[in-house]
Amino acid sequence: MMTKQTMRDIDVTGKRIFVRVDFNVPLTDALEIADDTRIRSALPTIRNLIERGGRVILASHLGRPKGKVTESMRLKPVADRLSELLGVEVDYAHECRGPDAQNAVAALRDGGVLLLENLRFHSEEEKNEPEFASQLASLADIYVNDAFGTAHRAHASTEGITHYLPSVAGLLMEKELSALGGLLESPGRPFACVFGGAKISDKVGMIRNMLQRVDIVFVGGGLAATFLKARGLDVGHSLVEDDMLDDARDIMRESERCGVPVLLPVDALVAAEVRAGVRTWVVQSTSVPANHGIVDIGPKTIEHFFARLESCKTVMWNGPMGVYEIAQFSLGTRCLINYLASLDVTSVIGGGSTVDAVQEMGLADLVTHVSTGGGATLELLEKGTLPGVEALNDLE
Ligand code: 3PG
Repeated sequence: MMTKQTMRDIDVTGKRIFVRVDFNVPLTDALEIADDTRIRSALPTIRNLIERGGRVILASHLGRPKGKVTESMRLKPVADRLSELLGVEVDYAHECRGPDAQNAVAALRDGGVLLLENLRFHSEEEKNEPEFASQLASLADIYVNDAFGTAHRAHASTEGITHYLPSVAGLLMEKELSALGGLLESPGRPFACVFGGAKISDKVGMIRNMLQRVDIVFVGGGLAATFLKARGLDVGHSLVEDDMLDDARDIMRESERCGVPVLLPVDALVAAEVRAGVRTWVVQSTSVPANHGIVDIGPKTIEHFFARLESCKTVMWNGPMGVYEIAQFSLGTRCLINYLASLDVTSVIGGGSTVDAVQEMGLADLVTHVSTGGGATLELLEKGTLPGVEALNDLE
């Protein structure tokens, strides 16, 4: 997978390095950083460049300001948190291009760090306009892409800029590509995928692709309801994507054709409402009451899944097994993560809400790799490549 040059392959001393990071972190209403995982994940790259005497120019988007300066989406809180984490002063420019950015770059010394303002305050960023990309490029001598979480976007700062500068991968990008690429290329077998989360629609491409590569598939979470309904079962008022029933049927036909079992929940935790404190029941998947919905996988399902997971050597998991944000619906997700941690297995957690779940439960250290990507992880596992990666220099 790593057919691209990385920042370890190049000399950075005294050079101005434009590092695209993904600092798209969740903020509270008070504009405090709710989860700094993505900032922490970029630290190895930033520290390495500082130690080697590079002049580090960091650039990111935050939220979706749609080309307008939006006060609540400024990167200032990120600059402050980064300064704390690095233990060095991080300069902050109020613009990502033009005189402000140029002056801030000119003031950088070897080993200095600067964070530019939100790239998406300019609509040219998402439109990947060459003129904007060239303005960004003019700030630097080298481009490093460490924004794995944004590598599925062909934007000016992820794709366009590579037409103007030598372009290499950062350390986080390299780590992500080797963990996720390893799943696509040479996974230890048996190889299992566990799919959960609310919706099937944003995952159907990934599920189809992974079906060709794995030995067994487990389905839980909200999307299990769509599969159960596609099998003709009544799932009460569980969240179902009716326009995806044909896709679910197709996936199950494909599973038969290629001999890869797709295991659905045999039982489920159900509730009349999705809120804390409601009464819950465990029922067979065949008997979900009409006025109830599925909120978690049931104990027999957990047992079945565990029995089949035990012999696996690689597990990729995307999507929680239930509405884990409510403690009484989080047992399936909790048990699964603890069980994976107890196995001698390469476990890769990919995709936004699964990552949030393991982090909130304080269990992220127990798995082999937790991806910082949401959409990027899904797209890599669906298509095998990403535009922001393709654009980087090939290894010679
Ligand atoms: C993400 O959070 O998935 C990335 O930062 C990409 O953000 P986007 O979906 O707004 O492009």
